[in-house]
Amino acid sequence: MGTIRSIIRSVGAHLPKRIMTNDDISKIVDTTDQWITERTGIKQRHIAADDELTSDLGTAAAHQALVRAGIDPVDIDLVVCATSTPDRTFPATAVKIQAELGVTKGAAFDVQAVCSGFVYALTIADNFLKTGQSKRAVVIGAETFSRILDWEDRGTCVLFGDGAGAVVLEAQPQKGEANPRGILSTRLRSDGRFYDMLYVDGGPGSTKTVGHLRMNGREVFRHAVQKISGVIEETLLETGFAANEISLFVPHQANKRILDGVARKLGVDPNKIVVTLDRHGNTSAASIPLALNQAFEDHRIKEGDLILMEAMGGGFTWGAALVRW
Ligand code: ACO
Repeated sequence: MGTIRSIIRSVGAHLPKRIMTNDDISKIVDTTDQWITERTGIKQRHIAADDELTSDLGTAAAHQALVRAGIDPVDIDLVVCATSTPDRTFPATAVKIQAELGVTKGAAFDVQAVCSGFVYALTIADNFLKTGQSKRAVVIGAETFSRILDWEDRGTCVLFGDGAGAVVLEAQPQKGEANPRGILSTRLRSDGRFYDMLYVDGGPGSTKTVGHLRMNGREVFRHAVQKISGVIEETLLETGFAANEISLFVPHQANKRILDGVARKLGVDPNKIVVTLDRHGNTSAASIPLALNQAFEDHRIKEGDLILMEAMGGGFTWGAALVRW
């Protein structure tokens, strides 16, 4: 059997209609548009309606990706959904999305790696495709973080938003091309010693409640630039590309200062970094596919481009994926 690569056939996204600006938030907690803009770069975020679930956002994003790829849901045999805000504790949100899309073959499951969830899900799907276990996968990042925020904590509630993004992957045998398309490299990392740095203070197995997001912002910030830069450098070293050969960086959208810090450390041209956090806030596992979708719709991606995605989140978890579009 020759080498198989996972090609990204298409991308899709979905955002709830309701927009909450920084000024709107300043009516709920003691904050200002100026503070949020200066410390984070965020100007607004989308907030799901009461009857709009993570699976609804994920299904809409996946549906758009399938339509753009021209792939019939019956030909999909893997659905992986990265989320930390599932509709229910179980079954997996991916199973609900699978049914809503009309996918009946293969497997569907969730992946839980918080803000790194999409990179984790993409890596897992890539491995399923490369080993021949699946042929076509939908990989989704979908979140309704508004439901787990403490809306009285100005240190966290200003940072997050709701949304979903998705890609369709297809296994294609390599024919010895000089510059093969598809996922070229993935790297996943975690370090559970930082379990208490960014977490939700509830859960079915401990408090029997959902809980609220808690974060040591300064520590997260301190680790983010260093860990993200490290995993990007490892990916470049492994694949033999220089940072300036990457066409587009599609990072997890947590904080503009983190993105600027990584760009400075690696000497990356800021124009090559896709930034959506000003409009979406931090949508956790949804942020990378949402940003990828934005770049696609802005015609910033063309076939053959080298695209580097990276993320870091609770756990800590972090990782990177290099793709030739
Ligand atoms: N509005 C106004 N003042 C605020 C707000 C707010 N929304 N939030 C905090 N403050 C105040 C604090 O109370 C504090 O006041 P004090 O000095 O009187 O006590 C002051 O601002 C400084 O607080 P810090 O938490 O030290 O502020 P910092 O400069 O570290 O910025 C922030 C906070 C933006 C959260 C920053 O730590 C950060 O970006 N951390 C990275 C974490 C992150 O982005 N997390 C996202 C999830 S993780 C991920 O996705 C990678």
